[in-house]
Amino acid sequence: MTRTTVKDVLDRYESNEPLTMLTAYDAPMAQMVDEGGVDMILVGDSAAHNHMGHEDTLPLTMDEALMNTGSVVRGTKEAMIIADMPFLSYGASMEDSVENAGRFIKEAGADAVKLETASTGGVTVDIVDRLTELGIPVQGHIGLTPQRMKEIGGPVIQGRGEQSSAPTQELVDTALELEEAGIFSLVLETVTEQTAREINEAVNIPTIGIGAGRYVDGQVLVLNDLIGLKSEDYKLSKQYADIGAKVRDAVEQFVSEVRKQEFPTAENAYEPVDE
Ligand code: KIV
Repeated sequence: MTRTTVKDVLDRYESNEPLTMLTAYDAPMAQMVDEGGVDMILVGDSAAHNHMGHEDTLPLTMDEALMNTGSVVRGTKEAMIIADMPFLSYGASMEDSVENAGRFIKEAGADAVKLETASTGGVTVDIVDRLTELGIPVQGHIGLTPQRMKEIGGPVIQGRGEQSSAPTQELVDTALELEEAGIFSLVLETVTEQTAREINEAVNIPTIGIGAGRYVDGQVLVLNDLIGLKSEDYKLSKQYADIGAKVRDAVEQFVSEVRKQEFPTAENAYEPVDE
């Protein structure tokens, strides 16, 4: 089996096959996600809070994101690997944006990059245009864009046209601009189901929803939420396993066995000479 390409993703979309994407930030988790059969793995900037203990995604650096992406690439064989570009690693200048996107492809081995775009479009649309012209596949991301959280003010559902919630038409227009600029797929985060439906009907590229409801072409979730490596419940997510509980049980058992001198036993010890 070879790695999933942009063409494979588009072929699956054309044949109405729902697309799947999950996050991963390191090699062993990425290997399991890959073996589970997802189409795409997103090395999300959500690593900043899910993996590195920050409050939000903003502190993630280029070096950290490159390290995470390289680890995920090395741990996987089949899924397409998409590197999420960190806050301000794009946008300050076209030159920096191209150079940083290129590093994910050239140094870390990613297959594509993802960029968040404001509901009003703007500078990132031009960057997407340049990157795709240069041969770097780009996944767009609109709706709730966590890199703008300080501006938005919180996890506000988008598409409602109220304060901090962009109107649906603005999001549809930006989706069309991004499609024109060459994105191969578009993440829709925390938008009303109706908004997602309208965007999905407007564009001819796969839409991948997270908190976007049913009428999109694929779904993405954060792996930590899916497997219970977290402390919060999100309406938009679904927990399929409680790995957190399993890890805590294993650690408690280890601590207890060491304290009671039940581990190690003679079976875990080495003899002076090989038998
Ligand atoms: O960083 C991330 O995990 C994401 C997903 C929420 C789409 O961008």
